[in-house]
Amino acid sequence: MNTPADQPVLASGTFTLGSSTNDPLTIRRLGFGAMRITGPGIWGEPADRTRAIQVLQRARDLGVDFIDTADSYGPNVSEDLIRAALYPYSGNGNPLIIATKGGLTRQGPDAWAAVGRPEYLRQCVQMSLRRLGIDRIDLWQLHRIDGKVPEAEQFGVIAQMINEGLIRHVGLSEVGVAELERARAVLPIVSVQNLYHAGNRQSEEVLQYCEQHSIGFIPWFPLGNRELVAPDGPLGAIAQRHSCTPAQVALAWLLQRSPVILPIPGTGSLSHLEENCSAALVHLDPAAMAEIDQLV
Ligand SMILES: NC(=O)c1ccc[n+]([C@@H]2O[C@H](COP(=O)([O-])OP(=O)(O)OC[C@H]3O[C@@H](n4cnc5c(N)ncnc54)[C@H](OP(=O)(O)O)[C@@H]3O)[C@@H](O)[C@H]2O)c1
Repeated sequence: MNTPADQPVLASGTFTLGSSTNDPLTIRRLGFGAMRITGPGIWGEPADRTRAIQVLQRARDLGVDFIDTADSYGPNVSEDLIRAALYPYSGNGNPLIIATKGGLTRQGPDAWAAVGRPEYLRQCVQMSLRRLGIDRIDLWQLHRIDGKVPEAEQFGVIAQMINEGLIRHVGLSEVGVAELERARAVLPIVSVQNLYHAGNRQSEEVLQYCEQHSIGFIPWFPLGNRELVAPDGPLGAIAQRHSCTPAQVALAWLLQRSPVILPIPGTGSLSHLEENCSAALVHLDPAAMAEIDQLV
């Protein structure tokens, strides 16, 4: 039998994406972000491909059943590695949910540009299906709404792909409440992925909207910059009091901050992965929660 130490991620609890749709999808709240397993600048192959595959498989073994990626990570590299490591996407009999994204193109390391033309979004989905080796994407996220293309065209082709069975659930990334509401008028949005961590709450209003509408809120960059999780940083004393690390405090705070938050910390390191997954076992006391709430 698995103990909490074997599969700490189970302690993070679950969230149901699309709870008001006719096809709800329950996942464990603490997931894994697969952007950091590519080369520098999220470009090309990782320095150590074997280790990248080990990280993905170890995430599954620690109980992760929700992995976030995108066609543009590499590009293609992250999805290819996920297939090499995890196909046919079953972790101890539990299905692994691969959430991918499309709509961003790449011009080189650290260069990204949105393209939301309907024929391109369709290509993104078709190519992710091929790379991942599946018939339907459980959660497909529009990486960015392209301001140069009418929203109706972007949302329209996504609706078509849901109807055709290529996409099961749809999410958005880096949106405000107004965009979210316009999208929800035509699409059953189940998740939003925005920048959010203990040191940056610019998406607080979107988080509150997600809480009100039972939409999953996936905070990207959950560990923030190096200073946030440094031993002598703003979370250091709380970490000492709780006998854990500052990175674990940052993740535990997200898990306790709201039941709709689904953190997806990313790393190419096995030791960071194990540390991050064990954050699900950390319970911050009310004083720590209040102290972190007041950081910004
Ligand atoms: N929707 C979007 O626009 C968007 C944008 C960015 C990211 N994302 C998604 O969000 C996921 C997470 O975002 P992220 O990777 O930018 O940020 P993150 O998970 O907060 O990780 C930031 C950095 O922290 C390091 N790290 C990880 N665990 C650590 C630990 N325990 N202690 C100290 N450092 C640690 C990682 O480097 P090491 O490899 O050295 O561990 C990484 O470079 C990505 O993988 C991706 O799936 C989405």
